[in-house]
Amino acid sequence: MTPAKTASSRSHRPAPFHPDEALQVVRRRTTLVPKVALVLGSGVGVLAEGVAWEATLPTEEIPGLPRSTVPGHSGRLLFGRWAGRSVVVAQGRAHLYEGYSAEEVTRVVRLFAALGARSLVLTNAAGGISSRMTPGTLMLVEDQLNLQWQAPGRPGQGSPGDPRAAQGMGPSGPTNPRGLASRPVYSPDLLAKATRAAVNAGVHVERGILGVTLGPSYETPAEVAMLERMGADAVCMSTAAEVAAANEIGLPVACISCVTNWAAGKNPAYTARLKHDDVTTGVAAVAPALRSVIERLILALA
Ligand code: HPA
Repeated sequence: MTPAKTASSRSHRPAPFHPDEALQVVRRRTTLVPKVALVLGSGVGVLAEGVAWEATLPTEEIPGLPRSTVPGHSGRLLFGRWAGRSVVVAQGRAHLYEGYSAEEVTRVVRLFAALGARSLVLTNAAGGISSRMTPGTLMLVEDQLNLQWQAPGRPGQGSPGDPRAAQGMGPSGPTNPRGLASRPVYSPDLLAKATRAAVNAGVHVERGILGVTLGPSYETPAEVAMLERMGADAVCMSTAAEVAAANEIGLPVACISCVTNWAAGKNPAYTARLKHDDVTTGVAAVAPALRSVIERLILALA
């Protein structure tokens, strides 16, 4: 049931991350300064196909970036013009359930900021909890319930072996800034622009609260019932740490969740156990709608 491939293909620990060093490696391949950065999650990477990218870099070529071990996550950074605007795209992401720390999975967000990105658009696949979130729905995330209980700014979330982590310091400064003032965490401006993009694209979207679990197992029906009582409209296993990192560095962030399935127990007619393939198939079904929303959103942001 796990989306991770096999234990043997699990990640090795990435090298320590120094944003300047990572930036230099990217700059050897492209001078493009992206206005918008996007993360295309489970299966959503297909959206990047058909764009004529100027430069493509496997994440493993960028020092310090973790690589994804999950099917449907190709693990590449793509640079070029999408909808006529300069963007960088992470095609695939690394997850906490692959054994990476919150600091490690959010390095790509720090790299985006170092590259000059002014907005971050995240995508993911999610299970629908509230009755509005039928499979095939796109949910614009208003806020999150981070049940992973991990965020990049916590002491001890730095790179193991980096002595600065023990002092709450990361390569790019303090990793535990206290009293973050950035609330709400999802940019209201980006949310409004994403809503307008959907209206202009003629795509129905819902707004809701994203519950985020550690994974890799899908939730039990009891866990989904708990999430529902807590106020989650949909559930996924990624994104929360990236949002926290974007907030730490002041990068406005939005997230579009593709609801690919009913979360466990929400559809009594559906008794088969959910598999990662069901999720990627579900994403393929919403991909055209998501593409038209994202392309309009890029235009509004850049
Ligand atoms: N739960 C958690 N993550 C998911 C789900 C789900 O039901 N579907 C797609 N990603």
